[in-house]
Amino acid sequence: MISVLHVSDLHFGKPSVPEAVAAIEQLIGAGRYDVVALSGDVSQRARAHELARGRAFLALAGAHARTIVVPGNHDVKWWRDPLGLGSTRAQFAAYRAYISHDLEPVLRVPEGTFVGLNTAHGVRPHTLTWNPRDIGVVGDLRRSQIERARAVFETAPAGDARVIVMHHNPLRGALSGRHGLAHTRRALGAFADLGVDLVLCGHDHQEAIHYVEHTRRGTVISTAGTTSNRSRGGRPGSVNEIAIEPDAITVHTRIWSAADRAFADGPVKRFAR
Ligand SMILES: [Fe+2]
Ligand SMILES: [Fe+2]
Repeated sequence: MISVLHVSDLHFGKPSVPEAVAAIEQLIGAGRYDVVALSGDVSQRARAHELARGRAFLALAGAHARTIVVPGNHDVKWWRDPLGLGSTRAQFAAYRAYISHDLEPVLRVPEGTFVGLNTAHGVRPHTLTWNPRDIGVVGDLRRSQIERARAVFETAPAGDARVIVMHHNPLRGALSGRHGLAHTRRALGAFADLGVDLVLCGHDHQEAIHYVEHTRRGTVISTAGTTSNRSRGGRPGSVNEIAIEPDAITVHTRIWSAADRAFADGPVKRFAR
């Protein structure tokens, strides 16, 4: 079994709730997880001190578990390239300096292969909408990224769980009514084709557990909420605990209780593999 703590949208900086982060660090410190996955929006504005706090969080996690992290739209300095024409170097320089040089890391653990995909590309013409607030917010996956994931999975041992870690939610949020990712059908179709067992994402700031059925097998989508004060609808923050077993994937949402300064049990869903 692979035990995963899936957290997202910590938004270090002003929105961060230090007590909730401390409680997450306590969960990790208890040594219950093989993997800690952080699916982007580490920071609020990609500022140095915010990303430095993110680095400290990952260092602590790394002392107790294997870690994987990908950037979110808040970790990209999209305003360094507001027309989407220039190089992405300046946009990711701070993230690379503090969090990870690799924007699309691969993590291999016994029985599982985790592929990080960067869906936060800054300003790109095809992710713009008529809403100016969407500038630099909507995510996207390119065909070359899917092909890279395919190449990684093809070198993994047969029977390994195939896990994608990315920031933007490919399914509509219940309260937001929105997909974080553009061209979601194409992305979900590609995941089905790749035999992806599990997607770890965030961005919507509302936790969710979904199952997308395919003809052969399905994909579990774990959308982690946020523990920052940006939780959608003023709802309590949350994290997801996931058990990947040879025959099943179980996602258990843990809900932050500010009064108890601890995480309480939330919904649990189990899916056959
Ligand atoms: Fe976020
Ligand atoms: Fe986001």
